[in-house]
Amino acid sequence: MFQVRLMTIDDYDRVIQLMKGTDGVSIRDADSRESTLRYLERNPGLSFIAELGGAIVGCIMAGHDGRRGYLQHLLVLPEHRRKGVANALVERCLLELEGLGIKKSHIDVLKTNSVASKFWARKGWKLRTDIDRYSIIRGDSENA
Ligand SMILES: CC(C)(COP(=O)(O)OP(=O)(O)OC[C@H]1O[C@@H](n2cnc3c(N)ncnc32)[C@H](O)[C@@H]1OP(=O)(O)O)[C@@H](O)C(=O)NCCC(=O)NCCS
Repeated sequence: MFQVRLMTIDDYDRVIQLMKGTDGVSIRDADSRESTLRYLERNPGLSFIAELGGAIVGCIMAGHDGRRGYLQHLLVLPEHRRKGVANALVERCLLELEGLGIKKSHIDVLKTNSVASKFWARKGWKLRTDIDRYSIIRGDSENA
């Protein structure tokens, strides 16, 4: 049975390797080691690893802005999918966020990621059709 534990910066290399090999997950400049450390320090106790026999089989990162929670980088290794790993990771995040008084959370999903869409819908998350997200990049990096 897999275990869920807190993610630390020591997991960074293995998590990035996992992300690189997973369709539907984008890696940006904001996923550098330095940015990830800042993220984990700003959002303690909200990012998790699923481990099985010492190997990382899934992960999720989460934070909040004082009002809303934001989940990202949920992924599970293909050979460990459909066994409740993602469900456990998401539930742990939502539980911890709730403990901080954050009762509503968001996740961005690429429109092309039909597997993720099915997962979130199955778990009761509502697809927002009433909102368009606008983004801007300061500086000249196209991959910020
Ligand atoms: C999406 C993803 C994280 C799901 O992980 P998982 O561990 O297989 O999910 P779980 O086993 O916890 O499934 C939870 C629920 O979602 C449903 N589900 C999961 N994958 C599904 C799929 N491909 N199609 C339909 N339903 C699916 C399960 O039936 C389950 O429902 P239940 O709790 O009522 O039984 C995994 O497919 C993945 O890593 N995909 C690639 C990365 C990605 O797209 N991440 C999300 C970015 S937003």
